[in-house]
Amino acid sequence: MENTLRELILSEIRSKGPIPFERFMELALYAPNMGYYLREGSTIGRGGDFFTASHLGNVFGSILSRPIEEVWRRMGEPKDFHIVEIGPGMGHLAYDILTALQGNPIESCLSYHLVELNPHLVKLQKKRLENFLSKVFWWRDIFELEHLSGVIICNEILDAFPVRLFEVRDSRILEVYVGTDRDGEFVETFYPADNELISYLEEFAPWVQHFDNYRSEACLRIRNWLRTLRGLLKGGLVLLIDYGYLSEEYYDLSRNRGTLMCYFKHTTNDVPYVHIGEQDITAHVNFTAVAKWAEEAGFKVENYTTQYRYLFSLVDEKFLERLYNHNPSSVIQFKTLILPGGMGESHKVMTLSVGL
Ligand SMILES: C[S@@+](CC[C@H](N)C(=O)[O-])C[C@H]1O[C@@H](n2cnc3c(N)ncnc32)[C@H](O)[C@@H]1O
Repeated sequence: MENTLRELILSEIRSKGPIPFERFMELALYAPNMGYYLREGSTIGRGGDFFTASHLGNVFGSILSRPIEEVWRRMGEPKDFHIVEIGPGMGHLAYDILTALQGNPIESCLSYHLVELNPHLVKLQKKRLENFLSKVFWWRDIFELEHLSGVIICNEILDAFPVRLFEVRDSRILEVYVGTDRDGEFVETFYPADNELISYLEEFAPWVQHFDNYRSEACLRIRNWLRTLRGLLKGGLVLLIDYGYLSEEYYDLSRNRGTLMCYFKHTTNDVPYVHIGEQDITAHVNFTAVAKWAEEAGFKVENYTTQYRYLFSLVDEKFLERLYNHNPSSVIQFKTLILPGGMGESHKVMTLSVGL
């Protein structure tokens, strides 16, 4: 698989010349049938390359069912309420949210929509959600959805969007492209950044121009994606949960190699040109840019905080007591989710609302 995907990328370079790193990342992660997220056997969790909050157990989903119910009430308890999960992975979060909402007055009003690019994962999700099939629907792309009222959940999605890589040399911003050397190995080449990348940096990190040999990345695709999302959502809330920073922290001098990271069998490395299609490639999210673009698209930014503060604000003693009585190990799950120095701090939550 790695060789075939490698060959696909090499042939694109042979025909077009060096390609922007963003395109390399797009092919490595999303080339049909071969990219890391689109191949068969793509798994997240203990058997895969990394795990996310929804793999720790049912606590994350149980807690997130609370703001979902609250939004439903704020919207006047509509008869038709949509929960949309973009990139639902193995389907654990969907299962845990639907289970937590069983017996709740919202249950008869809701439908759950999974937006999944990988047909192999859809099969796994269908199996996991077999008890809920009457209210669960699958879509390949958010473009297929419209007139949504409810909550859109994106857990660790934005970090998987292809990013543009740049370096600053002698006060010039250069964009990283990927070409090949004589032996057919991938090599980075550098071209002057285009206006889009320069405007992004002027707006969100003008100071980096003064850092020499500075390297980082920018995810410009989020802007259009937010516009699309806003077009679909008539009313409700978008819940963005991801690792990320505000601009000042993101583009700090101390982070002069950026945040690009690869995950391979629960180890990390910063070389995207190996294990192609077999390793995840991610970058942190710039939440300053997300907030700005969300407002520009017509959302109201309701909240931005750490996962620790967000989850803590949603639980009370009774809830924790019930968790413990149901399953004592839930308390360990909860601690992992809120741990300072771990997921509790690295992961941030941003909520965007429409008409609430
Ligand atoms: C790190 S995984 C997270 C999976 C899951 N949300 C979880 O928490 O376990 C990132 C997922 O985002 C999906 N993804 C990235 N961009 C997407 C897009 N534009 N539309 C739908 N899914 C997307 C990928 O296919 C991948 O399954």
